[in-house]
Formats: sequence, structure tokens, C-alpha cells
Amino acid sequence: MSKSSNYTICTAIPYLNGNPHLGHVMDYLLADVFARFYNLQGRDVVVTAGTDEHGAKIYQKALTSGLAVQDFVDAKAQVFQDFIHGLGVNYTHFTRTSSPKHCELCQAIWRKLSPHIYKGSYEGFYCEGCEAFITQKEFDHNHGICPDHKKSYTRLKESNYYLRISDFKPKIIAAIESGQMQILPLHRKKEILNLFKDMPDVSISRPREQVSWGIEVPDDPSQIMYVWIDALSNYLTAFSYPEQSNISPFWPADLQIVGKDILRFHAGIWPAMLLGLGLELPKTLFTHGFISLNGEKMSKSTGNIVDPRAVIDKYGVEAFRFYFLHQVSSFEDSDFSWDKFEVAYNDLANTLGNLVQRVANLCAKNTVPGATYQPVFDDDFVHFLEEFQTNSAFDYIWSKIQNLNKQIDREQPWALAKTQPAAAKDLLVGYTKDLLNIAYHLRVFLPDTAAAIERIFSAPTIVTPSTPLFPKNL
Ligand code: MSP
Repeated sequence: MSKSSNYTICTAIPYLNGNPHLGHVMDYLLADVFARFYNLQGRDVVVTAGTDEHGAKIYQKALTSGLAVQDFVDAKAQVFQDFIHGLGVNYTHFTRTSSPKHCELCQAIWRKLSPHIYKGSYEGFYCEGCEAFITQKEFDHNHGICPDHKKSYTRLKESNYYLRISDFKPKIIAAIESGQMQILPLHRKKEILNLFKDMPDVSISRPREQVSWGIEVPDDPSQIMYVWIDALSNYLTAFSYPEQSNISPFWPADLQIVGKDILRFHAGIWPAMLLGLGLELPKTLFTHGFISLNGEKMSKSTGNIVDPRAVIDKYGVEAFRFYFLHQVSSFEDSDFSWDKFEVAYNDLANTLGNLVQRVANLCAKNTVPGATYQPVFDDDFVHFLEEFQTNSAFDYIWSKIQNLNKQIDREQPWALAKTQPAAAKDLLVGYTKDLLNIAYHLRVFLPDTAAAIERIFSAPTIVTPSTPLFPKNL
């Protein structure tokens, strides 16, 4: 395997202090779109996923559950894996940060970074929800309360280790500015460059008496690694680095997908770690917005959540993917409501579901056989996805679907069949081919729907499907 044939996508790894919620789906669905697209373009796609299992908030949650911490995270890690599969998403590598292998590799990473690590002390604020050290400026800006978790910042005074970010700052800034490490969308790039202006060295450990559930700092049992060092390392331990020193078939990642709240870790500490290890920076950091409920970020810590299973159980996974990949902006925040979902579902049923049903019906009535087609993507579609414009790529397919509906309304093959059956048949053959082409493009977004359309319109005899793709009155 060589890097040129591989396409590596890394997804953020969720904390296990609760169950998956709708806010978690964007990482996986977006990763899946690019995985399917590059797979169909002939690349060997690598997708990393995992679970972030250490830290005080998970430890506390385990205590209140009455389970031993390891048992608690074992159960939750399984819930997250089931959740990812339930979205129709596949990964090639899954890293659990409490696994002995990850812990051992993480300590080896720490040792490799040691020329850039120094002992110090931290006096300031911390947000347990974000697992972030908070600067005085942020503290003042947010009046001492985390806007995402609605909790007061904790004051800390402790000794710990620091990573000398200053060793790498100019290189990181240059990589971001030049696009060598592309940050999307553009306004986030500007935000990060601004943040860099006064980014201090970062604390990368916590005293054991504060946080016991984590990875021990090598040669200093009194200190536990800062959970972000542990978590970010997953992108490398997934490939057994540094035990496996040559990870060039997988690294650098072509695409890292993160929510906007964690971009600063991925654009700050993470590149510093990579440069410290002598590794290349990821090519693109794709930052998606928040899914909110009643205008507030969905979050395990605040309990403001909707369970994805409730939506999938009612509407099915394909409608779910349609909502989050077509109706929701990939880069900006979107508020979820059941009413909006219902409107989107009806649109899907009326626009695509009806189209498939009526063309199949007409083909069955006029004995039109299934067609063959050229599995190629249109150039515009390729361009949108290469530029990471998932919404535009989906809009592009959606326009094709809408146009085909309009064309059929205009051409009225059912009327033509009464007087010129051969001409009507020609029209139907054309629609069948168009639908197969639409299905090929839909493979990237709605794989089960694409497969169903392909089955219907490439069968030797086209028959009316016994159940519509998207039944009404659920
Ligand atoms: N454990 C860290 C990530 C470590 S990556 C090395 C973390 N976990 S999380 O569970 O809080 O979030 C996991 C992912 O879900 C992140 O990409 C985060 O941005 C995303 N989301 C969590 N809640 C979200 C919304 N309400 N909306 C959209 N995405 C948000 O951060």
C-alpha cells in the first residue's frame, strides 16, 4: 500500500461520558461521504474512529453509574460502535484510548516528544466539559462560564508538564497560511490564525491527585497525561505508531473532520505534536458547525440531546442521512427539530420516492427492460467533493432529480403511450438511464437508496416496487 493510492480520513473520537446524540453524527456522516466518494474513485480509503475514554468527567460518570470505570467505558465504547454502524458508516481502524496498546504507544509518543517538554506549573482556569485550559482572556470574555457546557470554569493551581508550542509556532502558522494544512471553512482559518497570536505553551499533564483515570507520564507516576495529548495520539496509534515507525502508507491524513469547538486543539497542539515527532501535518482540517436543539448546542454534559436512534427508528437511516447531509449545512450551525425533519422527509418521499415509483410503474406497464449505464461521476460533482463542498454536491444531484421530474411532467409519456408506444418507450428508456446515473451519484450520500434504485432499473424486467422507498404516514 502506498500513500498515493490511499486516502486517509480521521474522525474525532467522542468522550464516553454519555450516549451518542445528534451532535455526534456530522463527523461520521461527512467522513463517510468522502470515504465512499474516494472509494468509487479507485482509492484505498482508510477511516479512523475511536473513543476518548480517559479524564475526570468520565471517571465521575462511571462512579455515579455504580460500575467499575473500565466496565463503564467498555459498555459505552460498544454503544458508540453500534451507533456508528447504525449510521451506515464503516471505519477501518478503531482506537479505544483505554486499551493497553494505545496507552503504551502514547507513552512512547511522549518519550519521543520529550526534547520539547519541560516541567512547570499552571495557575489559571480549566473547563472540565471541554477538557481545556482557559486563558484569562477567554475567562473574561465568557464571564467565567463555559458557553457550551454552561458550567463555571474551575480554578487550578498545580504543577505539570508543558509542550513548547513556541518551538513550532512559526512553522504551524506558515502551514496554515499557505494552505499546506488547509483549514475549512475559510473563516475558521482566520479565527485560528488570530488565536495563534497569543497562544502560550500548553500544559500537557495533570497531577494524579486531580485526575487518576488516564495514562501515566513516563518516569513520573505523580503525573497523568492531559487527556488531549492522549486523545490526539489516537490518530497515530491507530497505525501502531511509533512501534511502527513507517506509517507513510497512511500518513499524513488527507482529511481530518472535527467540530468547531475542537478545531483549536487540532490546529494548535496537534500540529505541534506532529512536528515534534517529525511527521507531516494533515492536508485538510474540515470543521463542521454545531447541531443545536432550541438554539443551544447539543451536549452530553448539559443533557440537551436527541437520541439518533429515535429518529432512525421512525424515519430510517437513509432519511436520516438525507437530513444531515442535504438539509444541514456542513460548515455552519443548524438547529434540529422534529418538524423540520418531517418536512425534509416529505420532500425526500415526494421528490425522489415518487419519481422512482412512477418511472418504475410506467416501465412495468410498457414492458421496458432494465438498462445498463456508465458508472462515472459528472465533472461538477467531482469538483464539489474535491473542494469539500458536500452540500453543493448533494444539491447537484437533487437538481438532477428535480429536473427529471419536470421533464417527465412536460413529456407526459403516459399520454404518448396511447398514440405512439415506441416513442413513449424511448422516453422511458432515457429516464431509466437517468435514474441509474442519479443512483450512481447517490451512492456517495444514500447508499441503500442508490442500491435499491439500481436493483429496480437494471433488472431484466422492471416491476413496480411493492413498497415505496419512503413510505408516507409513518
Ligand atoms: N473527545 C473529544 C475529541 C477528541 S478528538 C482527538 C471531544 N469529544 S465530544 O464527544 O465532545 O465530541 C466529539 C465530536 O462531536 C467532536 O467533533 C465535536 O465537535 C462533535 N460534537 C459534539 N457535540 C456537537 C454538536 N452539538 N454539534 C456538532 N458537533 C458537535 O470533543
